[in-house]
Amino acid sequence: MTELVPSPVEPKAIGTALPRVDGVEKVTGRAAYAVEHPVDRPLFAWLVTSTVARGRVVAVDRSEALAHPGVVSVVDHTDAPRLAQTDNGELAILQDDAVGFRGQIVAVVLAESSEAAREGARLVRVEQEAEPFEAELREDNASYRPEKVNPAMETDTDQGDVDTALGTATTVLEQTYRTPYEHNNPLEPHATTAWWSEEDGRERLTLFDSSQGVHGVATALAPMLGIDREQIRVMAPFVGGGFGSKGEAHAHVMAAALAARTTGGRPVRLAVTRQQMFSLTGYRTATISKFRLGTDDDGRLTAIEHRVQEQTSRLREFAEQTASPTRMMYAAPNRRTSHRLAVLDVAVPSWMRAPGEMPGMFAHEVAMDELAEACGLDPVELRRRNDPDVDPEEGLPFDRRGLVECLDRGAERFGWASRPRAPRSTADGEWWVGTGVASATYPAMRQPGNVARVESTDTGFAVSIGAVDIGTGARTALTQIAADALGVGTDDIDLRLGDTALPMASVAGGSSGTSSWGSAIVAAAQQFLADHGDRPDPGLWTEASALRGDEADRFSFHSFGAVFAEVHVHRYTGELRVPRMLGVYSVGRVVNPTTARSQLVGGLVMGMSAALFEESVRDPRFGHVVTQDLATYHVAAHADVAGIEAEWLDESTTTFTPMGSRGIGEIGIVGTAAAVANAAYHATGVRVRDLPLTADAFL
Ligand code: MOS
Repeated sequence: MTELVPSPVEPKAIGTALPRVDGVEKVTGRAAYAVEHPVDRPLFAWLVTSTVARGRVVAVDRSEALAHPGVVSVVDHTDAPRLAQTDNGELAILQDDAVGFRGQIVAVVLAESSEAAREGARLVRVEQEAEPFEAELREDNASYRPEKVNPAMETDTDQGDVDTALGTATTVLEQTYRTPYEHNNPLEPHATTAWWSEEDGRERLTLFDSSQGVHGVATALAPMLGIDREQIRVMAPFVGGGFGSKGEAHAHVMAAALAARTTGGRPVRLAVTRQQMFSLTGYRTATISKFRLGTDDDGRLTAIEHRVQEQTSRLREFAEQTASPTRMMYAAPNRRTSHRLAVLDVAVPSWMRAPGEMPGMFAHEVAMDELAEACGLDPVELRRRNDPDVDPEEGLPFDRRGLVECLDRGAERFGWASRPRAPRSTADGEWWVGTGVASATYPAMRQPGNVARVESTDTGFAVSIGAVDIGTGARTALTQIAADALGVGTDDIDLRLGDTALPMASVAGGSSGTSSWGSAIVAAAQQFLADHGDRPDPGLWTEASALRGDEADRFSFHSFGAVFAEVHVHRYTGELRVPRMLGVYSVGRVVNPTTARSQLVGGLVMGMSAALFEESVRDPRFGHVVTQDLATYHVAAHADVAGIEAEWLDESTTTFTPMGSRGIGEIGIVGTAAAVANAAYHATGVRVRDLPLTADAFL
């Protein structure tokens, strides 16, 4: 395996709207998802979950369940296979009688049919002893200081003297902003098919798992199960969305693996229900953001302070990096950020589209809107005045700081110039009409350790990498990248992914997939051409991994965007509508405009959905989330989505990746809820600082 710094790729297929290479398989139903792969004599698993938020399992009575026709067995903590490691408190299930949150897995029922398993699970009697618990994030209980915040950032930062600067500032804004719990709801619920077998006298575990990273699942499970990584194969050829919730294995994957170890080799199929997703597969923590901003006479920020409170689980630490965008977004000589956690008896929080940036930028961008008004400046102008020359945190120049261009382009296209400055000044019949703007940002990330394989075949090239296309179009974009890197047409590329039998690849997360995997593919392609020439015989191959060039250490890499929203608020009912949104983005070179537009518009829809609807309601008396389905956890539906447009600046810098791309999966959700909240303020004069913007706020 070679490591090299790949050279920039001349775009030919890159930048074209190649239709999804797997589109036909998907729309004809031939694409098989995690529980659809044919396997021999599967058993169906159903999860039994705890009904206390903290306590002990005293007894599990299986007799009625086992008497039900079709039920084969019940596995609980008394007889589940033992794990070799239990330090991951989320995954170490069925090992003892402790209950860590309401909805935790306490038993698994295996049956000959899904229906029998479900009925069996209903018939399992679990006697539990409840203990006192704490499940509510409050200002007064979020005081634990984690050592780092995700992925490995400083918990606190402090530059200059914020207090003194605020004392002498012309304008000071001090406000608190809140975002609620939110749950990822990809179309395909989490699901796993698992079976154990023996090969050359060694145990083997095979999984079809709905995952954003097959290699990550194998790496997480192997040491816990006491086997080598090579003894696990994980496959995810097609995945119906994830939004971060499939970025790491959750407990149901372990449940399937453990249950399958008891069946004498019969495969186990486990599909998490939509309801169970609200306790088992991750969620965005609620956040409390306390902002203090100070400016000079010209509206230039002299102090930025962002103190965050949010939550983690007693079972495993998860510290969302909510203040991280505040550290690089605007310039100010005096800056301070901090994160404190409430350690609760709840499920472990996890990644949800733009973890950190989404809640953090909601707070920051509403604060900027309030500050603009306090300074008597247009909100676009305030942001322009505070655009830094270098990354305030790193001190490095930005490879590309496209924010002001995005704001200007967006303002022009949206018709910002004709906007009246004062709020509550435009009405259309019974509706107040307003417009708002917010900035967006997301770091450009390229994960190390990715390896790609290029092999000449009779018909072209097989290009392999163990990455996952979770529905974004990665398989298509990587086909375009491979074609250009090899100097052939996209029809000549057979792109293979979604399998740990293929070379090492990082998770489809952090908007890093195309950059990380694409760079490895370019490296492998260029090394292949160097090794074998461009007219190779079939059967020759090269594996390579991409290093970053020295130049990459001299710049700060971020994407930027500007979101404009028009909001109508009904004068008598408070109903809020978003007839028009526009996002303009600086995201590097776009590999495929069709799939890229889907990502950006999808992010905008999700941000608008967060603004209007999304909220997981936790009942503090019992400690669980009561909004357990899409009837009670509302997401934007077709009728809510009107005119949403996304466009991007023409960019071609290849300092970050040889393709010129920087990542697009997450930035669309960043700042969007703030743009809607700011527009709602402009329409009504009512400032809402807590998501979602429910009708009662405007009455
Ligand atoms: Mo994304 S929340 O990093 O999958």
